[in-house]
Amino acid sequence: MAIKTVKGRRVWDSRGNPTVEVDVILESGALGRTIAPAGASRGTREAIDLRDGGQALRGKGVERALANVNGPIAAALTGLEVADQAAADRAILGLDASPLKETIGGNAAVAASLAVLHAAAAEAGKPLWRHVADHYGREASLPLPEIQIFGGGAHAGRRVDIQDFMIMVPGAKDFDEVMEVTNAVYFAAGDIMAARGKLAGVADEGGWWPSFDSNEEALETLVTAIEKAGEKPGERLVISLDIAASEFGKDGEYHLALENRALDSSALIDMLGAWLDAYPIVSIEDPLGEDDPDGMAEFTRRFGDRVQIIGDDFLVTNAGLVERAAAAGACNAVLLKVNQAGTVSESIETFRAAQAAGWGCVVSARSGETEDVSISHLATGLGCGQLKVGSFQRSERMAKWNECLRIQDKLGAERFVRGKPLEASWWGKKRKG
Ligand code: PGA
Ligand code: ZN
Repeated sequence: MAIKTVKGRRVWDSRGNPTVEVDVILESGALGRTIAPAGASRGTREAIDLRDGGQALRGKGVERALANVNGPIAAALTGLEVADQAAADRAILGLDASPLKETIGGNAAVAASLAVLHAAAAEAGKPLWRHVADHYGREASLPLPEIQIFGGGAHAGRRVDIQDFMIMVPGAKDFDEVMEVTNAVYFAAGDIMAARGKLAGVADEGGWWPSFDSNEEALETLVTAIEKAGEKPGERLVISLDIAASEFGKDGEYHLALENRALDSSALIDMLGAWLDAYPIVSIEDPLGEDDPDGMAEFTRRFGDRVQIIGDDFLVTNAGLVERAAAAGACNAVLLKVNQAGTVSESIETFRAAQAAGWGCVVSARSGETEDVSISHLATGLGCGQLKVGSFQRSERMAKWNECLRIQDKLGAERFVRGKPLEASWWGKKRKG
């Protein structure tokens, strides 16, 4: 079925910033609609969102991006067969010779590309996850969530240096159990903060505001919350961190503002290694900066057989960077953010590169999100195993978890991956005995 109309409109994200929504309408009348998300701790090599600059809307206007959707992107997509995602993405890419999509805008590109995918699913009469599984020859499965309890870094005015303190519940039998356990831990953490007089609302992704005196206090509080929730850390649930080290480090020099401490690469590796020994951490994202490939390789050499090491800013959903990192022995998993790449097809290429390397893959939201639930479907349809959405509060986060529950109703609870994605970690080895 041919694409008839492509229409962009300005809508607003979870931080109150303008963003791009795209409708792709087919000759049959079928509709695909997506909203572009927006990051705050962005990698320097990811697709660049086109913003208007100037005084209005704090420079964050998207009129130029919308003009690109309604002009050149609409012209390039109109008449194309919607089921040919690769051709649609080639048409979008053909409009922009710049490596980071600053001409057409990453926000314009990602919303258009994903809207084509949605329209193809609608035309086929399938939910998006089923269309993704069929189109890319994958077996659908419900992902294991990473859920934030405390938010820090760029999502909390740099109140603490580390960005995400999260839990995973690999011992859960289904998605409902993950939600129940998370509810218990999330509110136990809130109660502890309240009792200490440190409850101060939530950060950008819904995690409790990190009113801590050190980064490690956040970890200790998380363990206390897990125990207060009646869980034994390291049994049914484990801890996951996003260090987002590029946010506080450059050229192998890291500065922990909260503790007023400067660390070189190897000191940071030692500090994180000590945390891996002291806490039930099973996954760690961007432990070193995006410009520190040697540090990342060294970290992976030392700890890669124990924990999942995810590249986010380090790999920016780029297949070539995944291949290069795999060859260098840096990381063993990739974070998949469609708007870092810019199109669905490039994201699939990155997923395949990760698969070829024998790596894990975590589909991820951005810190600026909306009611759009595409990523719940993408993670399920690709059967990639893991999904990172932020915390357990604020509807732009809960919408994604709730959509997984709806998908589970269709797919069956037995298609929840449980702890499988963490089999290679110490947790999986311990489970196997
Ligand atoms: P961002 O952060 O969306 O603000 O870039 C998310 C992450 O680092 O995982
Ligand atoms: Zn990250």
